[in-house]
Amino acid sequence: MENETVAYPMPRIGDPAPEFKAVTTQGNINFPGDYKGSWVILFSHPADFTPVCTSEFITFAAMEEKFAQANTKLVGLSVDGLYSHIAWLRTIKEKIEYRGMKNVEVKFPLIEDITMEVARKYGMIQPGESSTKAVRAVFVVDPKGIIRTIIYYPLSLGRNFEELYRIIIALQTADAFNIATPADWQPGDDVIVPPAGSCGVAKDRMEGKEDMHCYDWFFCTKKLDKDTVLKTVLQKK
Ligand code: BEZ
Repeated sequence: MENETVAYPMPRIGDPAPEFKAVTTQGNINFPGDYKGSWVILFSHPADFTPVCTSEFITFAAMEEKFAQANTKLVGLSVDGLYSHIAWLRTIKEKIEYRGMKNVEVKFPLIEDITMEVARKYGMIQPGESSTKAVRAVFVVDPKGIIRTIIYYPLSLGRNFEELYRIIIALQTADAFNIATPADWQPGDDVIVPPAGSCGVAKDRMEGKEDMHCYDWFFCTKKLDKDTVLKTVLQKK
C-alpha cells in the first residue's frame, strides 16, 4: 500500500481548486486557502535549468507587478527540489539577460514537488508527453478558490504571458459587468450581452439602445470603454 499512487480526477473549470500544502521558495503555503480574496495563476514548468522554462520565468517575473495590480498572485511548480529551485532562480537573477530583462528576481513562490503529489492532483503529469516532468499547465483560480480557466501546453511550447494577463482582465470584466468577451477581445473592444448561454431575449431587449449592436437574435454587443474596464479591474484589490 505504501508506494501505491492515488489516481486523481482531472480538475475541471468550475471545480474548487484541489487543496494542498507545499514547501516553496517563499516558505510553506496552504493552497488555495492562503490566497482567498486574490486571483491566482498556479502554473507548472517541466524542469529547472532548462531554456524554455528560463525564458518563461524571466518573462512572468518581469510582469509580476502588472498581475499584482489586477489582484493576481503567481505560484509556480515543478517536480524539482527546493535547492534546485533556489540555485536556478539565483542563476536567472545573476547571469541571464533575456530580451532586455536582466537582474530579474523571482519573488513569487515556486513549489517543490518531488513526490509529484501536487502535479498529479492538477493533471500536470501527462505520460504521453512525459511521465517524469510536469507539462506547462496554467490554472486560473478566482478569489473564492474556484478554477476559472485551465490551459495545458506541451514541453516544447513557451507560453504567451500577455494572453494570461488578457485572461485575468477578461474574467474579471465578465464577472463585474455580467457580459462575455468575444474572440481576441481586449479592454476597450465591444463586449457580448447577455453572457453566452443565455441568448434569445437579447435582440428585442437591446435593439435601439445606445451603444448596442445586434448581428442577429443570438449575437448582440455593447460598448464598454477601456477606462471603465481598467478602473474596475485594477482597483479591485
Ligand atoms: C525547456 O524548458 O527548454 C524544456 C524543458 C523540458 C523539456 C523540453 C524543453
